[in-house]
Amino acid sequence: VSLRSYNTFGIDAQARLFAAFASVEELQALLRLPEVQQTEKLVLGGGSNLLFTRDFDGVVLKNEIRGLDLLPGEDDRTALLRAGAGESWHGVVEYALGQGLSGLENLSLIPGTVGAAPLQNIGAYGVELKDAFDHLEAVEISSGQLRAFSHEECGFGYRESVFKGPLKNQYIVTGVVLRLRREHRPNVSYGAIRTTLEEMGISADEPTPQQVSQAVISIRRSKLPDPAQIGNAGSFFKNPEVSQHKFEELKARFPDLPGYPVPGGVKVPAGWLIEQCGWKGHRAGPGGNYGVHAHQALVLVNHGGATGAEVRALAEEIMASVREKFGIELHPEVNIL
Ligand code: EPU
Repeated sequence: VSLRSYNTFGIDAQARLFAAFASVEELQALLRLPEVQQTEKLVLGGGSNLLFTRDFDGVVLKNEIRGLDLLPGEDDRTALLRAGAGESWHGVVEYALGQGLSGLENLSLIPGTVGAAPLQNIGAYGVELKDAFDHLEAVEISSGQLRAFSHEECGFGYRESVFKGPLKNQYIVTGVVLRLRREHRPNVSYGAIRTTLEEMGISADEPTPQQVSQAVISIRRSKLPDPAQIGNAGSFFKNPEVSQHKFEELKARFPDLPGYPVPGGVKVPAGWLIEQCGWKGHRAGPGGNYGVHAHQALVLVNHGGATGAEVRALAEEIMASVREKFGIELHPEVNIL
């Protein structure tokens, strides 16, 4: 089965076996099949954070569990929204906005599915999934058992969770319950949201969740390539953290270096480091068919026909040049297979 239409990078890899499931029971039945039990498994949501560098010699399990249900919160200011893992993330954001619920607006237009969101604790414009997360449900691959994971049990960090760490490849998320607000407390901590709102003629003091969502959508469209048009998986690398000492040393050599204080050090935008190494807008390959996005150096793009191995080789060249110029090690944010 060609996986080309199942990954937003548009890489033409093959999977030996492919199956889709639309309910917990269907998933449990699949996990009982010997040919599924005996082979490597890859769970696919929207395929928007993946780079295939080879064919996949196992079974791809495509999560198509749907469903959106509003549940009462513990008080009248809160609502819980239960979403099937196969729902599109942005669809859930729009549903919540339509119900007058806030908490997800900063996470508008992130590609991918609900089930993938907790794995890497998706985040954008000052908000992370963990800020609106109540709990999730997941099936254990080895036993087929369904269980719940509380916020704490998920071990969320920056683009991290227990499902990328100690529990990697052990659970399949089937549903996520989000905790949303009936009263609006917009997060406009991110400077570009405020300036975009003002450009839209909206006061940045009291925007509605819809207005924040519109601002986020407009920022994303201006910087990030639409995967329907140009193959990509969003930020290819995480933003690295350096010690305060290292940051000051670098700042003396590169006075324009941006940085945001975080507990234990300073977070530096990888996009800036990559741009400084001259990669922004870089084209590689015979027809310049893959490279670095012209408006956001943190995003690698496949204009068509690139192999995953080529993209990975470019990523390695970028990592080497950032290491050499700044002494900083970049780590991929995309799941490389
Ligand atoms: N920058 C440059 N050149 C570039 C890109 C960025 O100099 O080509 C510098 C600028 O100083 C800019 C700063 O980097 O002010 C931050 O850039 P941006 O706001 O575009 O955000 P980012 O740090 O590059 C992160 C997330 C994005 C998320 C945005 C907005 C990671 C790995 N990426 O990118 O998430 O949308 O912040 O919050 O943390 C994703 O994970 O796929 C993703 C797109």
